[in-house]
Amino acid sequence: MRKGKFITVEGGEGAGKSSNLTYIQSRLEEAGIEVLFTREPGGTDLGEDIRELLLGHKHTGMADDTELLMMFASRAEHLNRKIIPALEAGIWVLCDRFTDATYAYQGGGRNISFDRIAMLENWVQGKLRPDMTLLLDLPVETGLERARNRSEPDRFESEKIDFFDRVRAAYLKIAGNDPERVKVINASKPLDEVQAQIQSTLESTMLKD
Ligand code: TMP
Repeated sequence: MRKGKFITVEGGEGAGKSSNLTYIQSRLEEAGIEVLFTREPGGTDLGEDIRELLLGHKHTGMADDTELLMMFASRAEHLNRKIIPALEAGIWVLCDRFTDATYAYQGGGRNISFDRIAMLENWVQGKLRPDMTLLLDLPVETGLERARNRSEPDRFESEKIDFFDRVRAAYLKIAGNDPERVKVINASKPLDEVQAQIQSTLESTMLKD
């Protein structure tokens, strides 16, 4: 029996995921909720090794299917070893990216069909889906400009702008198809306004009762 809630946060490059994830974790903890904060790809020892292979530049030309399967290999490990045990113990899981990122990056970005991804989603996750997803949305140019001021670009950040246009379009399509679960946050606003949107979304959904 699942007792904890599963919340995921998604967005393109430079959407402000890190600071907003910290903010969400604090709001939940203030509400007396025990939270496990984790990320994908990664979240386990094996998953973090897979993350290095996926984000590093050693295998720049990896096949799209290899990339897709490695995302789900990391996810299978993460779910079985960390996410499901936490949820079953009544702990809420706050995850920096999850399967919507696969639809957006491998589906939208790499043009792998959503049907193919759905097969792996059903295989690896069974019926498990996030209870709520916050999509931090902003224009691609704005996000890339912000991201450029950070560290060296990883294998995904090194993609061209049309890749990120497809990623954003796929995220918005997912949100349009599942408005109950996916809440779109306008992340181009100043941080305090973004956090106000997040707070009111949490209060009207996960923190309602
Ligand atoms: P980030 O956690 O720093 O945002 O980096 C993770 C990168 O991995 C990001 O560019 C998005 C990408 N990614 C995918 O392509 N597919 C996935 O399923 C996940 C979880 C991430």
